[in-house]
Amino acid sequence: MKSIMIKLLRRANPKILKGIALVRLDFNTEDNWRIAAVIPTLKFLIRQATKVVIISHRGRPPEFKKGFYGAPAGDAKQFSLRADSLALKKLIKKNVHFITHFDFGAIKKEINDAPQKSVFLLENLRFMAGESGNDNRFAKKLSSVADYYVNEAFAVSHRAHASVSAITRYLPSYAGFELEHEIVSLSRAMDNPRQPLVLLLGGGKASDKLGILKYFKNKADYFLLGGVPANTILFLKGVDVKNSIVEKDAAELKKLKDIVRYKNILLPADFAWGDGKILDIGKRTELYFSKIVGRARTIIWSGPLGFFEKKPFDEGSIAVARAILRNKKVFSIAGGGETVAFLKKHGFDKKFGFISTGGGAMLEFLEGKKLPGIAALEGEPRRGREALKRSSVS
Ligand code: 3PG
Repeated sequence: MKSIMIKLLRRANPKILKGIALVRLDFNTEDNWRIAAVIPTLKFLIRQATKVVIISHRGRPPEFKKGFYGAPAGDAKQFSLRADSLALKKLIKKNVHFITHFDFGAIKKEINDAPQKSVFLLENLRFMAGESGNDNRFAKKLSSVADYYVNEAFAVSHRAHASVSAITRYLPSYAGFELEHEIVSLSRAMDNPRQPLVLLLGGGKASDKLGILKYFKNKADYFLLGGVPANTILFLKGVDVKNSIVEKDAAELKKLKDIVRYKNILLPADFAWGDGKILDIGKRTELYFSKIVGRARTIIWSGPLGFFEKKPFDEGSIAVARAILRNKKVFSIAGGGETVAFLKKHGFDKKFGFISTGGGAMLEFLEGKKLPGIAALEGEPRRGREALKRSSVS
């Protein structure tokens, strides 16, 4: 990661902040934990701005090419953000006006007519084809309801979508507090990590770890593999993994062949089996993985080491998590849906140095890729209302 220059909400001109804020969040989790992480930003915006308009997506719903002017019906209903508007109301202890349609004339009127400090949530943006198409016209319409834009949705910043990327062409745009925190924390582990640097890579897929393995090939002291990444490398080495889940895609397997030769990869030495499958690391591996994380100064963890949803196959991940928490000198980062679910289940999350809200976004960031949503915050809006000063985050 090179040092990146983006505009930060923390440093934004207070005069600009007085206008109507358009803030992109990510409601795409089961229990809204991503939203809990951005409550300080929302409270800040509610204090500073005249009104706050929240936009988000959930899942991958059917897209309506021409937009829609009523509420979603039938199958589309499950993707509605209506329930999220109620959850949000509880979290911010303030009424949230939920807007069920994309008639921008009516949306503008509703916002303008509402009392100061009102908070709005628009329906799932992915109902509109223009969103995933990064369509300028759609972005312009979105921009017309507000005076400035805040990206507080790191988790979707790897998507070049209208509400993440194109929108910044039309409004002064800033990185929210949590987005800044993500960039600073992940960059800290990537740029000048204190060593030993250890990456724990597990979970249900191997191909999505390939980019990270490559990026950290000459930086990591150790890669400790569990889950499907370990099964796949063992399989490629000719170990009989029986019915264990391995990466099946031939093209991905070919790419993973290079990884087999990495000297800093440590594979499990023993396993916990169930139904002819490797479902967790074994007790000897627990011990030697725990020893290594106990001496690490920087740890990045993506993907549990076993089938943590089913006891006793969570024991390997629990033992290694405890060893990380005993290490008082380490800067530890974890992220990804399954990893965060596991850490939360056991109350380990609060003791980690940093929990990323990103799934795919975190993986792509850690591959050294420039995420479209972050890159977009480097540019000036086409019709900017201030001579925007750039802030530097490194
Ligand atoms: C996520 O949950 O990773 C983000 O919300 C992005 O979702 P997507 O993969 O459907 O774009």
